[in-house]
Amino acid sequence: MEKGGLISIEGIDGAGKSRQAERLGKSLSVAGVDNIVTFEPGGGVGGEPFYQLLAGKSLRGLGAATEALLFTAARRHHLDSLILPAMENGKIVITDRFVDSTRVYQGFNDAQLARKIDQLHDLMIGIEPDLTIVIDIPVETALQRVHQRSGGDTRLESFGEKLEELRERFIAIAQANPHRCSVVDGDRDEHHIAAEILVCANELLS
Ligand code: TMP
Repeated sequence: MEKGGLISIEGIDGAGKSRQAERLGKSLSVAGVDNIVTFEPGGGVGGEPFYQLLAGKSLRGLGAATEALLFTAARRHHLDSLILPAMENGKIVITDRFVDSTRVYQGFNDAQLARKIDQLHDLMIGIEPDLTIVIDIPVETALQRVHQRSGGDTRLESFGEKLEELRERFIAIAQANPHRCSVVDGDRDEHHIAAEILVCANELLS
């Protein structure tokens, strides 16, 4: 059976990843490409407890290493219950966040932990996306969007001034992995962003 593929959409909160993941899924479907759209943390069959734990406020006060273990556990469940079966069936899996989010959010200011996150990923997950789209937006735009969306009650606040560093880490990962990563300017009309992402996906699929 033909193997599918894995596309991750990454970026800081408020970058518009979810919207673009949905749009890409619809465009691929129109083109006859069988796909599913999913997300982290908490994606996969029965993954809700991971979502409750990892996307809310519960993590505050836990160390970055503990967080990295929890996000990786959730990813393993996502992989086993949804991503791998879909790929085995020849589908393109589009995920809103994957391992680069752990590399950035948990590993960004600790080189030793960053190395361990890579080792843990190799050991317990073992696949990198075929294509990673990093949607890049200025921090001010991200903050405005997230405030509008949630009234300010978000994990984003806890990153404070580190948001610019998180943004730069995503760009650095993209630059270090040009074979799989493309950076897309997210500070413009969503139709243009979607069109550029579709070009990248079509390059992968051709
Ligand atoms: P979301 O806003 O895309 O739903 O993601 C929820 C939060 O989880 C977001 O602030 C980023 C964070 N996160 C990590 O810190 N590490 C990870 O590995 C993942 C997947 C998400």
